[in-house]
Amino acid sequence: MNQFTPQPGIMDIALYQGGKAHVEGVANVIKLSSNENPFGPSPAAIEAIRATAGQVHRYPSTDHAELRAAIGEVHGLDPDRIICGVGSDEVLQFVTQAYTGPGDEVIYTEHGFSMYPILARMAGATPVQVPERQRVVEVDAILAACTERTRIVFLANPANPTGTMLTEAEVTRLADNLPGHVLLVLDGAYAEFVEGFDGGAALVSARDNVIMTRTFSKIYGLGGLRIGWGYAPRAIIDVLNRIRQPFNLSTVQLAAAEAAVRDQDWVVRCRAENTLWRGWLAERFAELGIASDQSCANFILARFADRAEAEACDLFLQSQGLIVRRVAGYNLPQALRITVGDESSCRAVVDAVRAFKERAA
Ligand SMILES: Cc1ncc(COP(=O)(O)O)c(C=O)c1O
Repeated sequence: MNQFTPQPGIMDIALYQGGKAHVEGVANVIKLSSNENPFGPSPAAIEAIRATAGQVHRYPSTDHAELRAAIGEVHGLDPDRIICGVGSDEVLQFVTQAYTGPGDEVIYTEHGFSMYPILARMAGATPVQVPERQRVVEVDAILAACTERTRIVFLANPANPTGTMLTEAEVTRLADNLPGHVLLVLDGAYAEFVEGFDGGAALVSARDNVIMTRTFSKIYGLGGLRIGWGYAPRAIIDVLNRIRQPFNLSTVQLAAAEAAVRDQDWVVRCRAENTLWRGWLAERFAELGIASDQSCANFILARFADRAEAEACDLFLQSQGLIVRRVAGYNLPQALRITVGDESSCRAVVDAVRAFKERAA
């Protein structure tokens, strides 16, 4: 420690644990720990990255007008109600920083995404964890936890790491019944994996207390480039833009995201592959006696007999060069979260889990 004292809450932050990418002594790993798209980004996005490489001596656009227009066109949304950030994480940070501070409470749920309490603490606010029921978010539990200090409710739909989802009716009921001083943040990082789902956009359009965030990191396959966006009432966008740095997104990020969002054929193909192999994985796991909830995202949450079995299976998978995600930090010590990879990765993970089970028998 030195003589400089950080702002309240900062030293309470436990560092974010990302998915592992390496196993000691194993050269060719299959990484299924960070919910990345196994097919990568659209070829159009890769071409846009190449095409902008020669322009990086110029500062990028500050208002992201072209990317916002493209997102607006593709999703049928007003571009003036869109804000872009360095991953959806940055948009979530804008919201938390703008609307919470010391003495305020931020609600997230029992198995909710681990950035929510981190963001609350960054702003000096108090994260409040609300129970789920069998790995599904409970609207009534959230409503019961609201106090006059609550400022934000974070809800990922589909959720990470459970993969479960609330119905549109339930999300609407939540938005309808929150106290007037509470903002509902719908995190749609995995929305594109659900065919026909708007991520909550219609709810945002219709109300003044709901914000939606989206990302280019998951189905768009651009996690390494860091681009996300939010859709909110205009008055909120105006607030968020005041704390956004003018050049938060580079020329390369903006061009790649615009090309990616315009290539919806890529999204459709990736979603179809994901749905196919997610179902196949869940069925094979069930045959091996490993349960999982119906996942609406690009991973499954495999539930083992107990923590010891989950950890032993994880170690065995690592020895085979397969990296999945432990989720004890999400109050799920008996589970492993496994990203849906391409066909060969899915087959490899099932073969390895089968071998693990046979060894233990
Ligand atoms: C539920 C959820 N929200 C937000 C994010 C952040 O994504 P990004 O900052 O890459 O857009 C993730 C990433 O894993 C996530 O799982």
